[in-house]
Amino acid sequence: MNTKIKKIGVLTGGGDCPGLNAVIRAVTKTAIRQYNMEVVGIINGFSGLIHNDLRDLTEKEVSGILPRGGTILGTTNRDNPFHYPVKINGETVYQDVSDQVIENMKKAGIDALAIIGGDGSLAIANDFVNKGIPIVGIPKTIDNDLSATDLTFGFDTALTTASEAIDKLHTTAESHHRVMVLEVMGRYAGWIALQAGLAGGADVILIPEKPFSIDNVCDKIEERANKGRKFSIVVVAEGAAAKGGEMVVQRVVEGSPDPVRLGGVGNQVANAIERGTGKETRVIVLGHLQRGGSPTAYDRILGTRYGVKAVELLANGQYAQMVALKGTEIKAVPLESAIKKLKQVDPEGELVKAAESVGISFGTDYLK
Ligand code: F6P
Repeated sequence: MNTKIKKIGVLTGGGDCPGLNAVIRAVTKTAIRQYNMEVVGIINGFSGLIHNDLRDLTEKEVSGILPRGGTILGTTNRDNPFHYPVKINGETVYQDVSDQVIENMKKAGIDALAIIGGDGSLAIANDFVNKGIPIVGIPKTIDNDLSATDLTFGFDTALTTASEAIDKLHTTAESHHRVMVLEVMGRYAGWIALQAGLAGGADVILIPEKPFSIDNVCDKIEERANKGRKFSIVVVAEGAAAKGGEMVVQRVVEGSPDPVRLGGVGNQVANAIERGTGKETRVIVLGHLQRGGSPTAYDRILGTRYGVKAVELLANGQYAQMVALKGTEIKAVPLESAIKKLKQVDPEGELVKAAESVGISFGTDYLK
């Protein structure tokens, strides 16, 4: 065991997701119980390191947080120390304050960082690795779009929320003979839409990886109606787009590592279905409900395993790594590799084929 690390700083960066507290708890307990280290919680992501907003974490501090959604440390997806907004004479300019962060770490006696984040926060973590800071990354995001791990924690809870929403929509859709369009999150990946659609028995699933034709979506709904199924459930990923069309951008968040916020495709699809089929159609945007609430048992366990492994790596001097799920095992992968490539649904893969086999349409029959 490498005993160089006496004090670990832990932070949560980017959008929150269920399971963050499970990781914070596991990091704290493992560091204290197994390695006799101290743990400092950094408040509101990297912002806490810029402003010296720190809080000692003891076993007592993390007691009872396992089932809680959100993060007891707070988070932000705006404060990138390498591109930090500062007001000068009323104008916002962006400065590199990373040296200040390193100075603050030294003053607080923090030897290493466990950074819990998605691609944005892990990219910042990698920039600090390049400045010589011992870091281990822990992958979180409901989108499940990090290529170096089979799963991110938070995804299973979001998926469960979306599947339950589909179950609830089924009963009201069936009663009113309506089309229900459910827009779910996922950014540029269709994992939530595809798997929630499969679990909830959707009739149509639209994902970014398979550009759709609205005529094909309408055909599927009419084909069902002709067979006596007078209602239909359409699940749309926020990043889905028609063939030859663009993703629908809802807003641009200045200062965020990825400033584009998607949203609005559900409304467009619902309007087009109503025009194309004459069927009464409603749209439901599930939004941040997918990020909230208590983590599922799966996410609590995955978060705990990630937290334990992250501290083990730091204690053994294995820095610049990210913990990852590979098959059934928790492994270490180079942090750099984790941020290189977005993990998207294979449009011809087994999950898509399984969905097609049970009659789900992706609105892509034009390809056949
Ligand atoms: O990355 C997680 C996520 O929830 C995406 O699915 C979604 O596109 C985005 O974050 C929403 O971000 P915000 O919370 O800034 O609106």
